[in-house]
Amino acid sequence: MEIIILSTPAEVGRVAAAKIASVVAKKPSAVIGLATGSSPQGIYADLQRRVDAREISFAQARGFALDEYVGIPPEPPESYASVIARDVVGPLGFGPSRVRMPDGLADDLEFAANEYDAAIRAAGGVDVQILGIGANGHIGFNEPTSSFASRTRIKTLAPSTREANARFFDSLDRVPTHCVTQGLGTILEARELVLVAQGSAKADAAAASVEGPLSSFVPGSALQLHEHVTVAVDEAAASKLKHADYYKYTYANKPNRQRNQ
Ligand code: F6R
Repeated sequence: MEIIILSTPAEVGRVAAAKIASVVAKKPSAVIGLATGSSPQGIYADLQRRVDAREISFAQARGFALDEYVGIPPEPPESYASVIARDVVGPLGFGPSRVRMPDGLADDLEFAANEYDAAIRAAGGVDVQILGIGANGHIGFNEPTSSFASRTRIKTLAPSTREANARFFDSLDRVPTHCVTQGLGTILEARELVLVAQGSAKADAAAASVEGPLSSFVPGSALQLHEHVTVAVDEAAASKLKHADYYKYTYANKPNRQRNQ
C-alpha cells in the first residue's frame, strides 16, 4: 500500500487523478470504478482539466459506479445517477451508455445486484477503482460489519451515514434508508484501488483502515488485502497516522520512474 500525505485537498485530487490518468493513458478502454460524494470531486476536476488539455480521453473508457440509493429515480439531483452524469460522464466525456449504475429501482433488487457484478466481470473487471471513505470506515456503502467477501447487494445505511449525506437532500427524512453497493469482495477484485480522504473527520477512519487490524468493523481495512492500493490524504486526514513520517519519507524518496505526472 502506498500512503501519500499531501498538504492540501487540491493536491490530493491532483495526485490521485494522475494515477487514474496513467491507467487511461496506457489503456484507453479502461474500466473505471466511480465513487460519488465530496471526496473524489478534486479527482474529477483534475481529470477534466487533463481531458480539456487533450492529455487523455475517456471516450473509449467504461465506468461502473460504486453505489446508488434504493427508491430514488435517476432524475433528481441527489440520486447518484445524477451526480455521476453531472460530475463524471459529461465533464470527462465518457461515451454514451458507457457508465453503469447499480439499479436502486429494480423490482427484484437482489437479481439486479447480482447482474451488476456479472456486468463488471463481463466488462473484464475494473482496472482502477476510485474510493472515498466514511467517518465510520465504510467504503462504497459497506457499513461496519460488512463481510470482506460481500458482493453487490442491498445494505441498510448507518444512521450516521444518513446524517452525513443529509446535506445533499432537503431534509434528513428524505435520505433513503437503503442502498445498493458494490461489496467489499467486488471492490477487492479491481486491479488497482485509489482511496482519497480529506479533513479531520476522516482521520480515525483513515488510520484504522491503513494501520489498524483487519476487521469487518472497519470496512476500509479490507484495503490491506489488496496488492495495489494508493491512499492519498491531506494533512488533516493523516493526523492520526502513527507512521506519517515514514510515509512522507517514502514518498519524498520515490524514484522518478515510478511517479505519475
Ligand atoms: C460514495 C461512497 C461513499 C463515500 C463516503 C464518503 O459513492 O461510496 O463511500 O465515499 O461516504 O463520502 P464523502 O466523500 O461525501 O465524505
